[in-house]
Amino acid sequence: MSKGLRKGLTSYGDAGFSLFLRKAFIKAAGYSDDALDRPIVGITNTASDYNPCHGNAPALIEAAKRGVMLAGGLPMVFPTISIHESFAHPTSMYLRNLMAMDTEEMIRAQPMDAVIVIGGCDKTLPAQIMAVASVDLPSVVIPVGPMVVGHHKGEVLGACTDCRRLWGAHRAGTIDEDEIERVNGRLAPSVGTCMVMGTASTMACIAEALGLALPMSATVPAPHAERIRIAEQSGRRAAAMAMSGGPRPSDLLTPASFRNAQIVMQAIGGSTNGLIHLTAIANRTPNRIDLDAFDALGRTAPVLIDLKPSGEHYMEHFHHAGGVPALMRRLGDHLDLDARTVAGGTLRDVVAAAEEVPGQTVIRSGTDPIKPVGAMAVLRGNLAPRGALIKHSAASPSLLQHTGRAIVFTSILDMTTRIDDPELDVAPEDILVLQNGGPKGAPGMPEAGYLPIPKKLLARGVKDMVRISDARMSGTAFGTIVLHITPESADGGPLGLVRTGDRIRLDTAGRRIDLLVDEAELARRRAAQEPTPRPVWAERGYARLFHDTVLQADEGCDFAFLRAAPKPPGEGSAG
Ligand code: FES
Ligand code: MG
Repeated sequence: MSKGLRKGLTSYGDAGFSLFLRKAFIKAAGYSDDALDRPIVGITNTASDYNPCHGNAPALIEAAKRGVMLAGGLPMVFPTISIHESFAHPTSMYLRNLMAMDTEEMIRAQPMDAVIVIGGCDKTLPAQIMAVASVDLPSVVIPVGPMVVGHHKGEVLGACTDCRRLWGAHRAGTIDEDEIERVNGRLAPSVGTCMVMGTASTMACIAEALGLALPMSATVPAPHAERIRIAEQSGRRAAAMAMSGGPRPSDLLTPASFRNAQIVMQAIGGSTNGLIHLTAIANRTPNRIDLDAFDALGRTAPVLIDLKPSGEHYMEHFHHAGGVPALMRRLGDHLDLDARTVAGGTLRDVVAAAEEVPGQTVIRSGTDPIKPVGAMAVLRGNLAPRGALIKHSAASPSLLQHTGRAIVFTSILDMTTRIDDPELDVAPEDILVLQNGGPKGAPGMPEAGYLPIPKKLLARGVKDMVRISDARMSGTAFGTIVLHITPESADGGPLGLVRTGDRIRLDTAGRRIDLLVDEAELARRRAAQEPTPRPVWAERGYARLFHDTVLQADEGCDFAFLRAAPKPPGEGSAG
């Protein structure tokens, strides 16, 4: 009898009887003693009619099961929550921790020797990795893979960088009703995750960089046969890991692997959301992500991947150019190649086997980078005492050093009501400020940080403005956008003290974001602020748990009680 089926046999105070009952019930499904005698590999099922990104999950599950059985294990598929970016109210981020808790508890509750998590749509991989990091059972991550690209009028389309761009053109009146409807059917032409370097692609690449997913599993397009074979291979590996008992996430998630993940995130021009998720994952282990160390890495690690929204290409092109292993080969000395992976060896083995594709232009070399320094910078200042983030690789260079007048919106509702008002007093050099868009304020830190350009400025051809908030932004967006201002305005952060007409200075080179209002006036405003009672939406249930325990962006927006204790001082950090 596998130790898997025996796991947790204490419920009746009689282990023998508990196992007898467990076997009696599982035999109702037709299993033989021979099947039940094998190591068990649990496989999460996140297929859902509400989650088209996971449309290939059933095929991946079948392939993973086959792999587990070919290697002598018994696969057991179980459902967990599934979250799709567009079908999760109020935001998918609000539900990420719920999915992490669900996944963690179902892995703990049910007998298994190893687990495979299959996910991809934005918050799902972070939730699953947070879960497996906490459980620490041998685990393999299978991303569902990116969509293939769409085409319209001879142009290549990507979800959802072009969703925003073309909707903007429709708002500005250059694309009519008929054409925008046609575009709507072409932006997401297959199952799989958004095929630009958004959060889903970023987290899949991070799963590979952390060593939790097999080589190439981040980039193979979702509909390709190769993805099915990777799922089969992942099943084989999981069964082998179930038998040998390792490696476990704690063997893979080390200071070196977190540092590697941060360098890869900078090098791919990754989503700003990736930093929040990586922070949350690290906090499930004794490791920590240090924002200043992340910024320092970004000053030396180059951007090498030419992908939308920072560059030109899409995930399938990255894949055909050699994927994450080829990127890691180019990054070479920037990485610690002794880090271990679920494939059984180290990143050095992965890099040695990487394909060199002649003539490809998607993965650049260190001597010919897209940008000589990383994609993201951490800002601090009197507006963001605990930090803020800017993805300068996707910003307008002319706006990176900018001082302007603040136009303040006190909530997302206030912004949507007034932004297109022809009477709104706003000029292209102004700075748009959104308050109450953070984890507690909105709630769930929605991707509202990409404030739309006011219609009347769009009509004048204005394409970008400095926009600042405590919200997040889609990894697929482009613009000079300061995000994740911490602490958030709804938690007493200074962003809540900004008034329309104040002046704000963005100094990206100096890594500062400052409100140019004197301290006495700020103290007056602070004293006049009413303490905020628990809002109506947070009176009961998960909403209350979320409101009362969610951490700020610099701590990964996890719930305070889900973190692991940090390493004692002197044992090194992930930065
Ligand atoms: Fe699922 Fe973009 S909507 S990854
Ligand atoms: Mg997204």
